[in-house]
Amino acid sequence: MTAPLCAQDYAELARARLDPAIWAWLESGGADERTARANIDAWPALQLRGRALRPLAGAHTRLELNGQALAHPILIAPTAWHGLVHPDGETATSLAAAATGTPYILSAQSGTAIETLAALPEPPLLWFQLYAQRRREDTLALATRALQAGARALVLTVDAPVNGVRNAEQRSGFRVPDTIRSVHLDGLSPPAARPAPPGGSPLFGSGLLESAPTWDDVAWLRDRLPAGTPLWLKGILDPEDALLALAHGVDGLIVSNHGGRCLDTLPATCDALPAVAQAVAGRIPLLVDGGIRRGTDILKALALGARGVLIGRPVLHALAAGGAPALAHLVQVLRGELEVAMALTGCRTLGDIGPGVLWVPGQAA
Ligand code: FNR
Repeated sequence: MTAPLCAQDYAELARARLDPAIWAWLESGGADERTARANIDAWPALQLRGRALRPLAGAHTRLELNGQALAHPILIAPTAWHGLVHPDGETATSLAAAATGTPYILSAQSGTAIETLAALPEPPLLWFQLYAQRRREDTLALATRALQAGARALVLTVDAPVNGVRNAEQRSGFRVPDTIRSVHLDGLSPPAARPAPPGGSPLFGSGLLESAPTWDDVAWLRDRLPAGTPLWLKGILDPEDALLALAHGVDGLIVSNHGGRCLDTLPATCDALPAVAQAVAGRIPLLVDGGIRRGTDILKALALGARGVLIGRPVLHALAAGGAPALAHLVQVLRGELEVAMALTGCRTLGDIGPGVLWVPGQAA
């Protein structure tokens, strides 16, 4: 291959370099992987409305999110254990994020502590993702630790109270090596699972759901966070859940199906986003992830109501291919593609991007 030019080039490089079981872990979706594929296929299926001769002088991709000024609308999605794909792990991700002005949503399942990343000479803008823990106090302790280390927002992931059925990963024999630890979770009490009785109820008999989080836990956490802490929920696909999130004082939503890794046959995020945007009606900002691989995908996400996008697997692909420089290059590539797409649809700023950039056969007027 010539030097990588786009996200798919990085995916191919990563596939060639990584151990097949690690590739299966990072790439696979749930069950028959229909949602994972739908995420990838849905954005390119939308067509764009090219516009000519619109004024483009002074064009930029700046925005404000949580009161933070950002240079572009691309964020790094939380993904576990970057040390599996590159020896520098989350440090490499942080360097690339800082170099490109990209917010990095650090996973609570990272192998590097948030304090270590925040102490880098040039730390990135860090947000922190967490799952509700079995004990509410542990969730609050995690959140407090992240905020004290400098996290500028918290992201509570709500679409994975249990693991999805991940057959491709199971077939690969993937195991997390002993060298990789989830450093933020050490010492917290894990979900209290008990072996299901033979022939008994496999999940419901396991006790795992006795501590599954509910909206009450969101309200409990919201009430205990310092005033002004932005709290986002990640993994909302349904407009009714979006309205519940609003009612529980959440500051932003990430429309996501976990990259298709949890419940298979959920809709593509591209297809779910418009109804969530309609329900929320601009009251809180939306981000979206799942299958974002091109600048045109980003433009379409913004056209359908998102303020920005997260990239998940492409980050791991670039890290595997070449660490921090490769990831920084990938972000610049996506940003450049977005700028080309904006210029050719006549959009000078992100605010100019609306449903009007989408081609509706017979309706362009
Ligand atoms: C994830 N994702 C995820 N989400 C989260 O909230 N916490 C986590 O620790 C992880 N870990 C994780 C590991 C791997 C290997 C993948 C691929 C994904 C989901 C992630 O944040 C995001 O929602 C999707 O990856 C977005 O889809 P794309 O960009 O991968 O298509």
